[in-house]
Amino acid sequence: MPLNRRILIAASLSITFALAPLTGVFAASPAPAKGEHGMVVTAQHLASEVGIGVLKRGGNAVDAAVAVGYALAVVYPNAGNIGGGGFMTIRFKDGKSTFLDFRERAPLAATKTMYLDKDGNPVKGASLDGYLAVGVPGSVAGLEMAREKYGKLSRQDLMAPAIGYARDGFILNQGDVASFAGSADRLAKDPAAAAIFLKPDGKPYGIGERLVQPDLAASLVAISEKGTDAFYKGAIADAIVKASGAKGGILAKPDFEQYAVRELKPVTCTYRGYEITSSPPPSSGGVIICEILNVLEGYPLSYLGAGSAETVHVMVEAMRYAYVDRNSALGDPDFVDNPVSKLLDKAYAKDIRDKIDPFRAGVSQDLMPKGFGESKETTHYSIIDDEGNAVAVTYTLNGSFGAGVVADGTGILLNNEMDDFTQKPGVPNLYGLVQGEANAIQPKKTPLSSMSPTVVAKDGKPFMVIGSPGGSRIITITLEAIVNVIDHGMNIQEAIDAPRIHHQWLPDKVYVEPFGLSPDTEKLLAGMGYHLDLADQTWGQAAGILVGGKSLAEVEKGGGARYNGAIDSRAASGEALGY
Ligand code: DON
Repeated sequence: MPLNRRILIAASLSITFALAPLTGVFAASPAPAKGEHGMVVTAQHLASEVGIGVLKRGGNAVDAAVAVGYALAVVYPNAGNIGGGGFMTIRFKDGKSTFLDFRERAPLAATKTMYLDKDGNPVKGASLDGYLAVGVPGSVAGLEMAREKYGKLSRQDLMAPAIGYARDGFILNQGDVASFAGSADRLAKDPAAAAIFLKPDGKPYGIGERLVQPDLAASLVAISEKGTDAFYKGAIADAIVKASGAKGGILAKPDFEQYAVRELKPVTCTYRGYEITSSPPPSSGGVIICEILNVLEGYPLSYLGAGSAETVHVMVEAMRYAYVDRNSALGDPDFVDNPVSKLLDKAYAKDIRDKIDPFRAGVSQDLMPKGFGESKETTHYSIIDDEGNAVAVTYTLNGSFGAGVVADGTGILLNNEMDDFTQKPGVPNLYGLVQGEANAIQPKKTPLSSMSPTVVAKDGKPFMVIGSPGGSRIITITLEAIVNVIDHGMNIQEAIDAPRIHHQWLPDKVYVEPFGLSPDTEKLLAGMGYHLDLADQTWGQAAGILVGGKSLAEVEKGGGARYNGAIDSRAASGEALGY
């Protein structure tokens, strides 16, 4: 059947069923949280309370983001961190925006082949476990720069809640303990990590038990009193360098002394009249989200319908083309000339659409560039304040509990971000990404990321704040939440909870969350040539805010709550809090 005819059928079907959402009573998801003055959405309820507390005592969204960043390092230790790095996208009340890159850098002694054996093959686990996997952390420098440049409150004020939770402890709930249990074997291998995150009998903590982290409290107090120097020039850096030297790592004091945050221009694009502001390289996130949206703009997604075979088809093809670009062309902007303007060009998106067969799946191998040889381990939070300043932060240790190591006396878990580099062209990393030379390891270089803290605006006003963990899937998780709101009319909670699909060029598979597609849709897609991977686990933990109503329909009608927050139903410990 020609595509146009199928679109017409889809259109008439959507008219028939348009009545269902209008009744508005039964939703597949709980109602979003409401707020008139501010909203904080994080993956751990105590951190959300910390953020709301900051807004209520006069801090702005950046202050709240800084306090939440430190709090998550204590109450969400599998991903919240001061031993890792991340990105902050800020859209100010006047419509200007900026981006802080406080992601890890490769140590000065890093080499392109540092994870390969003498025969040129990757050494299993070398980029994931232990000190050799650790990139120079950026979180402390990033949070402090955000506060100094754009915050209003003192460092001591913003760090106090985190220090309190580290020193006095906090009671673990079901969501908290799940992350410890899953990583117990790994944590047991490092005595300093085991002493913090496992009980004296070696077992993980249970529900209702209290986790106290006195060494981390001492490190946070030192940072609170002395600022970033306490981390990068003082005893903390010394302790990490010492442990690294003793246990097979290459971190040296100059790595810490030379660490610098980069303030960059965010990537921007438009999608059906909405303005997207997201992460530039060294993230691939913003560029690839925009590239996919530019391709999708040419298809009537709302008529094709959420979860239909045709919607999945065009989304997967757009993802396939965009991830080829991600994996072959992008890298740290200080080292690589990123073809950002080409990838963001609407004409380039049209070229991609012209290559998409309306009836057949593409073949990833056919897109191989010339010369080209999951999890809950990151966390995203979204904040908006009474003035309309919007902040999206995604930061990470990479794998759950990072490299699984803590330098004695610091209480600080260290990242394994080095795995995000290309170890060898063609060899997949932790997230199955097959990457090329642009992302090869070099001293002081930042590995390419997928983290996509994003703010969407409409008519010059903030509309949506969104992002997620999920490794290489962060990009499609964030994208799908945006499309679900703008094209499919879902409210912010439904848009985040809706089952996900993912394609990343290689492997050439469409990943589908449990119950993500109906069996007949699966059959249609298989008939078009798709290889479906029906996952038995969900992925991602998006955190989002919609401004002016819980859904686009409510925003357009007027009269909805000013701020509507949603934490992913997949995030067992998170909370959206408004006031
Ligand atoms: O920067 C990146 O793309 C990855 N290090 C993110 C890792 C991640 O999201 C893990 N959590 N699920």
